[in-house]
Amino acid sequence: MGGPLGGSTVRRYIPPRAPPGAPTMNRFARSAWGVLAYDVAVAAWGAYVRATGSGAGCGRHWPLCNGEIIPRAPRVQTLVELSHRVTSGIALLLTAALFAWALRAYPRGHRVRRGATAALALMVAEALLGAMLVLFELVAHDASMKRALSVSLHLSNTFLLLASTALTAFWASGGAPVRVRGQGPMRWVVAVPLAATLLVGATGALTALGDTLFPAASLASGVAQDLLPGAHLFVRLRALHPVLAVLDATLLVVGASGMRAMRGGQPLRGLSLALSGLAVAQVGGGLLDVALLAPVWLQLVHLVLADSVWIALVLASAAALAADDARPFADGASGAEHVEERPGPEQRRPAVEQDRRAGHVRARG
Ligand code: HEM
Repeated sequence: MGGPLGGSTVRRYIPPRAPPGAPTMNRFARSAWGVLAYDVAVAAWGAYVRATGSGAGCGRHWPLCNGEIIPRAPRVQTLVELSHRVTSGIALLLTAALFAWALRAYPRGHRVRRGATAALALMVAEALLGAMLVLFELVAHDASMKRALSVSLHLSNTFLLLASTALTAFWASGGAPVRVRGQGPMRWVVAVPLAATLLVGATGALTALGDTLFPAASLASGVAQDLLPGAHLFVRLRALHPVLAVLDATLLVVGASGMRAMRGGQPLRGLSLALSGLAVAQVGGGLLDVALLAPVWLQLVHLVLADSVWIALVLASAAALAADDARPFADGASGAEHVEERPGPEQRRPAVEQDRRAGHVRARG
């Protein structure tokens, strides 16, 4: 991948397509949003692996599958697990490429660089956590406390990975830097929903595991199962998530309107409205999940919605804590949309510098 700007000699003026100050995207930003969407899809596929009990499809082997690079005569479970490994391997490569690109295109200390660095570190941790699940056989029908801890940790790491990738894309799209100091009560309006949603996500992972390992034949028998004195811990914990999640969704809607009231303007308004809508939709999806006894397709929808709620919350929080609320898309990458890339000496120019120039100049090879 090259830098957002290339080219060498011929330049010609093209008029800006967006009004000054409006958020526009350079190629780096578009790629970062693409990586984020891909990561959400890979996480959903990971849930499919868990929901179909395919986690042991490659045996106790990692990174090889059943001791081979490409297994001969694979079973369906092996194919499901193998495809998750391949797609998550591609996610790792994409994140590494984004990191390398950020180093080339943005100056030292720039927030886009920091976001891409965190994303790469969390992606490596994600791969190690996945490997740990396989190597310690915390997969398929295992119902140990170790597995409960590791799935919650895995889910929390996925949320942090999505947060750092989303912030990388947001900042590369011109999102203002975040400042925590001096923000008064806004810090709490942001911190409490973030912590609560991380916790709700982790409890959701436990509920999903309980549903996979101890499926109920009907809603009534499921509730009876939950209340049985000798019931497995996963079964008893199953009811915790819906209760906490409804409280969290209420907190998200209240928090989102608080952010809007305390600090208006775009992109906070759009993001906080999206957050409220997604949180309400997620409650509807969760109730349907319970009523339909969590069919696999609905588990995937629920997870993608959970990821979307989380990403909207992270971005709304970043916008709410923007250092410069008068110009939320100030300082940074806007307008590189107007730049076409061709290899040349300018390729190495940092994106920030390119962005200042972009909108007025098109480079051609
Ligand atoms: C902000 C709201 C919510 C968030 C962030 C959230 C998050 C999650 C997450 C991350 C999972 C694990 C998915 C997986 O690993 O495959 C999950 C599972 C689950 N959640 Fe939620 N959830 C929310 C609301 C609700 C509500 C309101 C209910 C029920 C009333 C509910 C019921 C369930 C059930 C039954 C599962 C297990 C089956 C499945 O994976 O879909 N959730 N949730």
